[in-house]
Amino acid sequence: MSENVLRLEDVTMQFGGVVAVNNLSLEVNRGEIVALIGPNGAGKTTAFNCITGVYEPTNGQVSFEGKVIVANHPTGKMKKNYQGLNSEKYLHIKPVDPTPDQITKLGIARTFQNIRLWKSMTVFDNVLTAKHMRAKQNVFTATFRISAAEERRMREETMALLEEQNLVQFKDDLATSLPYGLQRRLEIARALATEPKLLLLDEPAAGMNPQETEELGQFIMQIKEKYDLTIFMIEHHMDLVMKFSDRIYVIDFGKLIAKGTPAEIQANPKVIEAYLGVTDDE
Ligand SMILES: Nc1ncnc2c1ncn2[C@@H]1O[C@H](COP(=O)(O)OP(=O)(O)O)[C@@H](O)[C@H]1O
Ligand SMILES: [Mg+2]
Repeated sequence: MSENVLRLEDVTMQFGGVVAVNNLSLEVNRGEIVALIGPNGAGKTTAFNCITGVYEPTNGQVSFEGKVIVANHPTGKMKKNYQGLNSEKYLHIKPVDPTPDQITKLGIARTFQNIRLWKSMTVFDNVLTAKHMRAKQNVFTATFRISAAEERRMREETMALLEEQNLVQFKDDLATSLPYGLQRRLEIARALATEPKLLLLDEPAAGMNPQETEELGQFIMQIKEKYDLTIFMIEHHMDLVMKFSDRIYVIDFGKLIAKGTPAEIQANPKVIEAYLGVTDDE
């Protein structure tokens, strides 16, 4: 029935003494929109960075479509300093430590909390270059040369993505000249250009007003259907999260504190407490 696309098991990311992500296990199934929420500093972006090869987690593993794509256990200095759980569970495995590029090629794309576009490139070239990155995956065919036919196809697909985002009129402008909301759109277009199966969105509605946020939610639903995507998003706008996600994971201080449907999460006292900063009696 529900097929696992992304699976985290015991993922822990420790920076010196700071345990930013602590023993996080979760799943995202094919076709779902799943949200990861939690207060600032909870470890959400760090979790994304562990999935996408930006950081090598201190412990745990990440699987994509049933295959382990990231795996590690505390080594070196961390062996002594490790404060997470289940380190012994992964001692026998060989660490798997992909680069962000390799993760992209597997079919995982992301956007960033602080928009990261290629600043000196035009809107068009931002998307086209992402297409090129995706194409250069076979040592024997495309690494050194993209054929003229393939280049033409990529340019057409780039235009189609820009059309979908209403960005065609800006195609020759520098990416950074776009207003903020459109830069976010462009970042999504660029992520889609890599033909992902799983799209990770880090606060896609940051800085948007309620109307823009609602439009973004509708847009996320549209691209999910159109491109047959699975979506895992970090978001602070609760209206967006509650309306558009199938399921929600909540973390606080790096640890999973709740998971469930939007209705379950809204009624969960632990979540309310984490957000309101109320301490209980223990
Ligand atoms: N590269 C890093 N080095 C040291 N500490 C980091 C690093 N990246 C994140 N952290 C720390 O990890 C914690 C979680 O940060 P982050 O994942 O950005 O939180 P969130 O995205 O939930 O707001 C914070 O305490 C942050 O300071
Ligand atoms: Mg963050």
